[in-house]
Amino acid sequence: ASTLGASAAEKGRYFGTAVAAHKLSDSQYVGILNREFNSVTAENEMKWDATEPSQGRFSYTNADRIVNHARANGMSIRGHALLWHAQQPGWAQNMSGSALRSAAINHVTQVASYYRGRIHSWDVVNEAFADGSSGGRRDSNLQRTGNDWIEAAFRAARAADPNAKLCYNDYNTDGVNAKSTGIYNMVRDFKARGVPIDCVGFQSHLTNSVPGDYQANLQRFADLGVDVQITELDIAGTNQAAVYDTVTRACLAVARCTGITVWGIRDSDSWRTGANPLLFDNNGNKKPAYTAVLNAL
Ligand code: XIL
Repeated sequence: ASTLGASAAEKGRYFGTAVAAHKLSDSQYVGILNREFNSVTAENEMKWDATEPSQGRFSYTNADRIVNHARANGMSIRGHALLWHAQQPGWAQNMSGSALRSAAINHVTQVASYYRGRIHSWDVVNEAFADGSSGGRRDSNLQRTGNDWIEAAFRAARAADPNAKLCYNDYNTDGVNAKSTGIYNMVRDFKARGVPIDCVGFQSHLTNSVPGDYQANLQRFADLGVDVQITELDIAGTNQAAVYDTVTRACLAVARCTGITVWGIRDSDSWRTGANPLLFDNNGNKKPAYTAVLNAL
């Protein structure tokens, strides 16, 4: 096939991008989006600060713009993200203990219920593990409510939207390392105890290279009985096309790698200012990295 989404679909996968609601009035942006992609993730619009700016008052206008565009164009939707230490509303940043726990679980319940039936996969919890060699949790206000906050969030999400796939999502988890192994052990424990989890997202914000055991790392998670997804792919540096090729082939080589999402369309849309890590240049032209991905699919 001649587009990313159609080629991925031939392999039983999706190919998605992060979308910013305010860019849906940019005809070049929307033209590429509609031509190339069959999945979307809201870049910021479904985060806690956006959806619950004051406690108990929910705001879905910008998220709904993306959801409605996706549904009108036959694209599936990754929900991102129900709970995260970053981009919390100020009121939540200032909470702790059982009050924060209740507020967080209520947030999961409300947002997942609002979108019930419309989300392919939810990032229920984002970036809860620490970088470095500890293999343990990141310190955060959520973590300080008790180590079981992650499983409580997944149980609430399942109750609210039984048909959405529920994912844990993180970065610097691309190879077998202490951080990815900490997550692996959590997923194994969840599966053993019946905590609902369906997928693990690998953000894959990369520069110049990808660990040699990238595919093996995806496979070890898949072997636990969860799907894996590449959720926020962008690749800076001179070796870009070759690394995109490697990542795409790794996903296709893992039967349970169900899709790839790039974190923006044109380089000018990237959160990594100046890194030019995406598949289209600032003018919307296809880059060598685009061709590498299309040929690998
Ligand atoms: C980024 C967005 O792209 C930026 O627009 C925003 O200012 C900060 O967040 N990991 C994630 C994403 O899970 O939500 C982040 O998105 C990038 C890193």
